[in-house]
Amino acid sequence: MTPALTDTTLLALLRDMPKAELHVHIEGTLEPELIFALAERNQIELPYADVEALRRAYAFTDLQSFLDIYYAGASVLLHEQDFYDMARAYLARAVRDRVVHAEIFFDPQTHTARGVPMASVINGLYRACRDAERDWGISCALILCFLRHLSEEDAFQTLAQAMPLRDRFIGVGLDSSELGHPPEKFARVFAHCRELGLHLVAHAGEEGPAAYIWSALDTLQVERIDHGVQAQHDAALMQRLARERIALTVCPLSNQKLQVFPDLSQHNLPRMLEAGLRVTVNSDDPAYFGGYINDNFEQLFAVTGMGPAQAYRLARNSLQASFVGESRKHAWREQLDDCFVRHGFQDAIDTSEGAPILP
Ligand code: HPA
Ligand code: ZN
Repeated sequence: MTPALTDTTLLALLRDMPKAELHVHIEGTLEPELIFALAERNQIELPYADVEALRRAYAFTDLQSFLDIYYAGASVLLHEQDFYDMARAYLARAVRDRVVHAEIFFDPQTHTARGVPMASVINGLYRACRDAERDWGISCALILCFLRHLSEEDAFQTLAQAMPLRDRFIGVGLDSSELGHPPEKFARVFAHCRELGLHLVAHAGEEGPAAYIWSALDTLQVERIDHGVQAQHDAALMQRLARERIALTVCPLSNQKLQVFPDLSQHNLPRMLEAGLRVTVNSDDPAYFGGYINDNFEQLFAVTGMGPAQAYRLARNSLQASFVGESRKHAWREQLDDCFVRHGFQDAIDTSEGAPILP
């Protein structure tokens, strides 16, 4: 049990600072209550008696033990409205955490394999994004993830199914079981996506070795690394990530729950930030890992002793690493600085982009 953050001024700052969420799987935002409501609406029998029984099953030992339950939970999603309701619930929650921009992963193969049309998935999520922008002013975009435990051929077919809706997602990613499924397995499909002008990201170095991060950068040519915490075992890689300002979308509570680190207090995020890496804080699968983005900030800051300077760097990194144009980033940076001034932490404002760039 992580102790609560007792510094109330820091707590207020973390909650109020504008931030971008760059690593959230929309299927991982399905709360047990919504899983049961959708199961009833769609007349799907769940192998759990009630919400509490489902929650009790959330005792993960590694990535695979989580994925098994995560895919089972997603089985209640059938119709466009289900995808809409899921994303609407997440975005309402994100607005409360002062997320000004969210780049949201979705796993179409989890749904198309069950006979759900690709258009139901993308249109439901896309409509929720547009409605949230209209209703709450949050900015959002979708990133289609390929499941790496499936074949590259399957990824190509998935891309082809999504192409009629190309204007509704901004990029592609790579997720699911990492070990044994290195990035280079998807070299051709990522090369094709690059030619299509899609943004490219990939999960690498969550459970897998630092070599997978090299491969994601050099073979897939991704623009950001999702997780990337295993980079700490490779000094040359750490230097490259710092020098090239490559963003890492780190997910502290996820890493704790999936036992990537024995305890949150031993998480390497403060050290990676110190080494000049463009680290960001994200929630991954908040319904399964015990917290949304601000919970990640609060619990991490409670146990690591990080303060306002690190809070500023993490929030600024998230805005800078987003796939939006410079004018919107500029506006958000101004909001960030205003927030730090308002909270009396103007000394933490640092526009130098982190540690000095290494030779
Ligand atoms: N890692 C890999 N695949 C995933 C994750 C994750 O943390 N969450 C949802 N799919
Ligand atoms: Zn993830």
